[in-house]
Amino acid sequence: MMATDFLPTVQPWLGPECGEAVRAQVDSGFLGPGNAARRFGERLAALAGVSHAVPTISGTIALTVAAKALGLNPGDEILVPAYGVVSTINAFSSAGLSPRLVDIEFATGCMDVAELRQRVTPKTKAVCFVDFSGHTGDPLVEAAALCRERGLPLIEDAACALGQHFAGQQAGSFGTVGCLSFSVAKVMTTGQGGALLTADRGLADRAAAWIDHGDLDWRATNTHRHIGTNLRFNDVLAALGLTQLDTIDARLERKRTAFAALQEELDGHLFTVPGGEAPLHNIVFCDQPEAMVRELRARNIGAVQQYRCLANQPVYAHLGDHAFAAARRWERTSVYLPFGLGLTADDARRIGRAVRETGLPLHRPRPSN
Ligand SMILES: Cc1ncc(COP(=O)(O)O)c(C=O)c1O
Repeated sequence: MMATDFLPTVQPWLGPECGEAVRAQVDSGFLGPGNAARRFGERLAALAGVSHAVPTISGTIALTVAAKALGLNPGDEILVPAYGVVSTINAFSSAGLSPRLVDIEFATGCMDVAELRQRVTPKTKAVCFVDFSGHTGDPLVEAAALCRERGLPLIEDAACALGQHFAGQQAGSFGTVGCLSFSVAKVMTTGQGGALLTADRGLADRAAAWIDHGDLDWRATNTHRHIGTNLRFNDVLAALGLTQLDTIDARLERKRTAFAALQEELDGHLFTVPGGEAPLHNIVFCDQPEAMVRELRARNIGAVQQYRCLANQPVYAHLGDHAFAAARRWERTSVYLPFGLGLTADDARRIGRAVRETGLPLHRPRPSN
């Protein structure tokens, strides 16, 4: 890429084998939910080290279906992190649940487990922990332990964490149920898509039945005993996903390589995640994020400010029952630099140089565990 070309915020990376796999699937005549979708689920389960995976149409829907399969009902309280993408909280509020916010830890971007301990009430029916930008680590382990202690189901939103691991355990396998997303910004993408991961056979069956008109065996029996709907994944997208799963190690390595180049260029000022992994996003912190974005855009670098403290979103203003100091600080100071597997080490160095050229000082994020 020429030094002056625009570097977009999100850069997916799809080799020619992806198009070939889609072509072959189309030519096979099997387009709907079939063998490829089933194989895709099996491969995801194997990758995450769980016994069951249920592919579905998006990561948001995976979270909604997870809540449904856990038996959560409209009005039930679920605790979610106070900062991040709106998809997580929307997944639950769109199903009529009552989310409450828990502040994050500034260093990790993840739910603050000490705060979580205080926010759990007798009304709390579940917790959703987000592996922020692929951050697993101690906060996730501690949140899982707390949920076990309190008898609460834990939904691990591992949308940004496919292929990440901590202490030998794969992201998406720490909770009662984990959820993945395959939207364009992720390590592997099917355009849109998602999956539930679980070791609980009953939960997997309830999820699979709900997204296929309520019963697992209705095609064989021509009998419907339960209400359901249709949120199934399809074979064309599964073919695209399977091809990327074949090269998942190389994909993760590409992410690490670009991250390492940018981190070096920025002298360690990027947000980090544990386990020698790269986060999904390339994030820096500064006191003038608007100026940083403006200056970078003037240099053809598609940096953005994104996400807010959710209590600062008009639709969730009623959840502002707490200071949420770390969530608000992330909103005030974070800048998202271009990211994605399409980013080369040279692109990463160009971004790093441009950040330095702005002359705007960066905060050094506290090292995460
Ligand atoms: C943390 C997190 N949760 C949930 C989602 C929702 O996934 P999707 O966009 O596939 O619905 C995303 C994706 O943007 C995400 O980053």
